Amino acid sequence: MASRFEKPVIAFLSEEADLQSLAKLYSDASPGLDVRFADNLGNLEEITAAVCWFPPMGLLRKLPNLQMIQSVGAGIEHIVRDRDLPDHVPLFRVIDNEMALGMAAYVTWAIVDHHRRFREFAVLQQEKVWDELQTSLPSKYIVGIAGFGTLGEACAKSLSSMGYSVRGWSRRPKDDSAPGVELFSGSGRVDSFLEGCNALVCLLPLTDETRGFLNYSTFERLADGAHVINVGRGEHLVEEDLASALAAGKIGRATLDTFSQEPLPKNSPLWTMGATLVTPHIATSTKFETIVSQTLENYTATVSGADRSNRQVDLKAGY
Ligand code: NDP
Ligand code: OXD
Repeated sequence: MASRFEKPVIAFLSEEADLQSLAKLYSDASPGLDVRFADNLGNLEEITAAVCWFPPMGLLRKLPNLQMIQSVGAGIEHIVRDRDLPDHVPLFRVIDNEMALGMAAYVTWAIVDHHRRFREFAVLQQEKVWDELQTSLPSKYIVGIAGFGTLGEACAKSLSSMGYSVRGWSRRPKDDSAPGVELFSGSGRVDSFLEGCNALVCLLPLTDETRGFLNYSTFERLADGAHVINVGRGEHLVEEDLASALAAGKIGRATLDTFSQEPLPKNSPLWTMGATLVTPHIATSTKFETIVSQTLENYTATVSGADRSNRQVDLKAGY
């Protein structure tokens, strides 16, 4: 006899994003799937899976037969902000090689663009000036990657293949999984990790420990004129500290992809602060098909008791 959990009854829960087109792909992948939206969930006891981007607070707790929660992104802070989150229900995030390669492309472009002074060449071109601006060798240019997980490692591989001197910082010690990268771990090693970096990439998850990581005392450890790249979350950055560090020349460039409020409000000073480059949370993304296939795999694994712990969020650690 078929188990009542064989096919998920999926609830799409989102306060912000339009998940309608994603929902259609679930029905295409598994015809007959029961897909419901937050504004018309029907009998809450029937729902066995939730696909979320900013779910309404307290709603997940009201689903008594929920077997799993799927984030539509790599981050999950928009889900765990709910203090009533049912912590016995496994929460999954997207882990995707294509997404990691997309992030590596963005970060590598940002590093090379600043290090090789391409924006300055663009200005010189306007003036028809032939000036061979000097740059250091990549091996003398230190890139620190804060958050050495799926995305951080992909960036490190790309940059070290071009000869950059790369450091990685994680919460726990790692096996030497990225040859040529100098690894640091734990809060006790953060100063050594930061010391003298010419560029700092934030690829941390947003947790109580990492909020505000990009602050003035972090910037002070870096080389003068360093480049800060925030592709983590807006709340990692203390905006007024960045403004002061840019004004003092401590930071020479900031490439910002994520913001506390998205879309970035028109009156945000970040739009016009000198030497910043703002992109609208596009550093990387996942194909909708990948979210669908991972949800269905995660669901099957969960109800059959198989291990999918590599994609499951550790709620105690907060990521
Ligand atoms: P992972 O969970 O794979 O990696 C997170 C890394 O951060 C791990 O190395 C982890 O350490 C480390 N870390 C966590 N807490 C601390 C801490 N307190 N001190 C030091 N290191 C810490 O995440 P991903 O690489 O998949 O994603 C990272 C983040 O990137 C996401 O959370 C999201 O915010 C952001 N993101 C941004 C996108 C964009 O387009 N801008 C797209 C996708 C994601 P350890 O290895 O020991 O666990
Ligand atoms: C994210 C994503 O978590 O886009 O930022 O997946």
